[in-house]
Amino acid sequence: MKQIILTGDRPTGRLHVGHYVGSLKERVRLQNSGKYDEIYIMIADAQALTDNADNPEKVRQNIMQVALDYLACGIDPEKSCIFIQSAIPELTELTFYYMNLVTVSRVQRNPTVKSEIKQRNFEASIPVGFFCYPISQAADITAFHATAVPAGEDQMPMLEQAREIVRKFNDIYGETLTEPDIILPENQACFRLPGTDGKAKMSKSLGNCIYLSDEPDVIKSKIMSMYTDPTHIRKEDPGHTKGNPVFTYLEAFCNPEHFKEFMPDYKNLDELKAHYERGGLGDVTVKKFLNNVMQKELEIIRERRKMWEQRLPDVYDILYQGSMKAKTVAANTLEEVKHSMKIDYFENKNLLSKENER
Ligand code: TRP
Repeated sequence: MKQIILTGDRPTGRLHVGHYVGSLKERVRLQNSGKYDEIYIMIADAQALTDNADNPEKVRQNIMQVALDYLACGIDPEKSCIFIQSAIPELTELTFYYMNLVTVSRVQRNPTVKSEIKQRNFEASIPVGFFCYPISQAADITAFHATAVPAGEDQMPMLEQAREIVRKFNDIYGETLTEPDIILPENQACFRLPGTDGKAKMSKSLGNCIYLSDEPDVIKSKIMSMYTDPTHIRKEDPGHTKGNPVFTYLEAFCNPEHFKEFMPDYKNLDELKAHYERGGLGDVTVKKFLNNVMQKELEIIRERRKMWEQRLPDVYDILYQGSMKAKTVAANTLEEVKHSMKIDYFENKNLLSKENER
C-alpha cells in the first residue's frame, strides 16, 4: 500500500515554535525519510473561515505567511505538495456526503470541538459550518487516501472521527476509503509547548508565543522574561523543573550537542535539571542557555524565510501548482466515492436499465 501523508494548518496567524516542535519539524523529518510516496500539506483556509466568517481578510493575509513558514522550516515543494483547501471544491462535496454518516451527538462529544466551542464563546449559538469541521477534516484526509497524518495531540479526536467515517463509509458502500493513522511527535515535551507565560497553550491572543519569524532580539527578550518556578526565589532555593516552561522548552529543543557548545559544565539536560532541583542554579543562567539553543535552531528557519520572502512570485507558483495537483487527486477520489454510492449517473447508463440496478 502506498504511504501517503496529509496534514495542514489553519491560516489564522504566523506559525510559532509550538507548531514547529509539535508538527512542522516532524513533517520535515518524515518528508526527508524517503518512506512516503506522496505528501500533501494543506493551508486550511476553508476551515479557518468556519470560525472567522466575518474576517476573510485575516485568513487571506495569512495564506502567504503560512506558506513562507512551511518553506522556512524545510518543507520542500519538490517533495511535498503544498496547496490551498478552498481551491479544491471536491473537498466540500465529500464533506456533504460524509455528513450523513455522523450524528450531531457524536460531534458534540468530540473533545476538541467541545473545548473550541468554549474558547470561542460559541456555547449559545454554534455556526453550523464550524460544528461540521471535523467532518470536513475527514474529507481532507480521505480525499488523498492518506495513511498518515502528522499532527499535534489536539488533533487526536479529529483523527478518531475520520477513522469512524471511513469505517462507516466502507461498511455501507463497499471498500473505498483509507483509514489514516496519526503520527505524534516522539518527544512528549513537544506535544503541547506552553506559552512563555506558563499558560497551557500558546495563543496569539494571549501574546505568549515565540514566532518562527521573530527577530533574535525579540526571541531573547521573550525568553528572558519567561515564567519559571515561582517558588524558586533565590538562586540557592531548590527549584521545580516540572511544569516550568523554561525546562519544557529545553526538553523540546536541546540536545547534548548544545551542551557541548554552550554549557560544557553539564553533559545533558538531566544533569542541569538535577542541579536546578537541588538549588544553586539561577533562572537567568538557564534562560541564557535556552536562548542560545533556540537562537541556533531558529536562525536557519528565519534566514530561509527571508530568502523566500524575496521570491514571493515563486511561492505563489508553488501554491498554484500544488493546488492544481491536489485537485486532480481529490477529483479522482470523489469519482470513486460517487461510484461506490452509485450516484455516478452520467458515468454510465445504469439509470436506463429496467430494474434500475447494477
Ligand atoms: N485542524 C487543523 C488545524 O487546526 C487543520 C487541518 C485541516 C488539518 N484539515 C486537516 C490537519 C487535516 C490535519 C489533517 O490546524
